[in-house]
Amino acid sequence: MKKRVLSGVQPSGHPHLGNYLGAMRRHIEMQEEYECFLFIADLHALTTVKDSNLMKAQTYELAAAYLALGLDPEKTVFFKQSAISEHAELCWIFDCLVTVPFLERSHAWKDAKNKGVKEATMGLFNYPVLQAADILLYKPDLVPVGKDQKQHIEMTRDIATTFNNLFGEIFKLPEPEIKEEVAIVPGTDGQKMSKSYGNTIDLFAPENALKKQVMGIVTDSTPVEDPKDPDKCNVFNIYKLLASPEETKDVENKYRQGGFGYGEAKKLLLEKILSHFAKSREKYENLMGKKDFITQILEEGAKKAKSIAISTLDEVKEKTGYK
Ligand code: ADP
Ligand code: TRP
Repeated sequence: MKKRVLSGVQPSGHPHLGNYLGAMRRHIEMQEEYECFLFIADLHALTTVKDSNLMKAQTYELAAAYLALGLDPEKTVFFKQSAISEHAELCWIFDCLVTVPFLERSHAWKDAKNKGVKEATMGLFNYPVLQAADILLYKPDLVPVGKDQKQHIEMTRDIATTFNNLFGEIFKLPEPEIKEEVAIVPGTDGQKMSKSYGNTIDLFAPENALKKQVMGIVTDSTPVEDPKDPDKCNVFNIYKLLASPEETKDVENKYRQGGFGYGEAKKLLLEKILSHFAKSREKYENLMGKKDFITQILEEGAKKAKSIAISTLDEVKEKTGYK
């Protein structure tokens, strides 16, 4: 029996190189070895996206991005969270078991408070409970996530244990799969690449926009002719994440020898990105012209997900006395 893997991704903007190297690539490669479920966390996204056109556009973008990068809907059950009402239903049941102090311990909640968010919504406060429902409905063995999500998986395990102790064993305690060795991809300003810092290199931006992002990478003012330390350069640090060991060595030598300017390094990086993602970029363009096809894939995924979600919720209803 293959182990079951589940993860969710919010449709919160244009997918960037950090998302790909830090998460998407792993989600896609896991389909070769595991029984995979991946959903677009559009219910979670409502905590920040309050515009219907944007919600739709970002959902298509994310779905097209995964499909273009190699997600195979025959191998991975790929669907929208909002298509499965059981997520919200189970969330309510958990809400009646989870205490306010438990949720107040969430790092994400504390961060929001520290940032001075005064009128935080219930959705934001409750975010970890919905995430627990997302996960536990499908009884996965593994949940691949970034380091920032570790606490959410721990909370999920706590919620599962609370339910199991009160009503009887239904839920399997999932393990997080956190790749410690996955590098934090630096953005164009050297901080962690993130939509919220506006320092991203977007995988599917048109070529001229992509060029602008790459040419905008911040470098120091060492003159062209001087030797440079590659490890201190953002351009090199991003380049090496995509290049082969030989290519990396070659560019490293160029930096150290001098006579190699940052402009030239940026051109090399741009070419690398364009060649590395050439097929995916073409496929993405094509898919974005066929939104009905994307919808159909997500609907077929939802049908498969729905039957599992219903069967788990039925067990929950029996245990809680609703059935
Ligand atoms: P953003 O910070 O741009 O909003 P998200 O928080 O939506 O990105 O991240 C989605 C996934 O991509 C997460 O699993 C996260 O760990 C991963 N990820 C995001 N940025 C990076 C990065 N700079 N390096 C590595 N992984 C990243
Ligand atoms: N909170 C996750 C993130 O921001 C997205 C998410 C929602 C998720 N539900 C999930 C991830 C269930 C894994 C499992 O990245």
